[in-house]
Amino acid sequence: MWITLTGFMASGKSTVARHLGPAQNLPIVSLDELAAERSGCSIGDFFDRNGEAAFRELELEMLEGLDPGSDLIVDAGGGLVETPAAVDLIRQRGVVLWLDAPWEAVQGRLQGGGTPDRPLARDMDWTSLEALYNRRQALYARAADFRLAGASSAAEDLARLAVLRCRAWANREAENRS
Ligand code: S3P
Repeated sequence: MWITLTGFMASGKSTVARHLGPAQNLPIVSLDELAAERSGCSIGDFFDRNGEAAFRELELEMLEGLDPGSDLIVDAGGGLVETPAAVDLIRQRGVVLWLDAPWEAVQGRLQGGGTPDRPLARDMDWTSLEALYNRRQALYARAADFRLAGASSAAEDLARLAVLRCRAWANREAENRS
């Protein structure tokens, strides 16, 4: 089964994945890294050359290339929820967790240098980026089985909570099957 981490840029997905992976003894797959490897350039350069729509296609292609039967943690880019087919796929393959960090925390992290390979954060002004954050909240809510809120919680604590949520999800699935 896949455990997919979603949430806005700089919500802490990769940090939580780094704790969750060893805790669950599962490999971590970063879709951003796969996309960069496949395209042979940074995500920023990819956006500049091909645009966002092409990136969404590439992201979906990377997701579709993952083994459906593997147990793994999928560290998804914050915009994956913009692609309905990708949302359908991650929901079919396992549990989806939403790291819901407040806008102030996200903004603080992005201001603190978190934009090197985040073309949207690089190119948009704060008002537009906040509007994107607000619009996407509903997309994350719809895609996710569980919401993990907490800018103040340490990544270890969020990862521990994630383990509990995944167990609850697996138990529920087992009950539904029996
Ligand atoms: C994006 C988020 C990024 C990356 C790309 C687009 C987005 O991933 O996929 O820059 O649309 O929110 P992170 O959420 O890991 O920064």
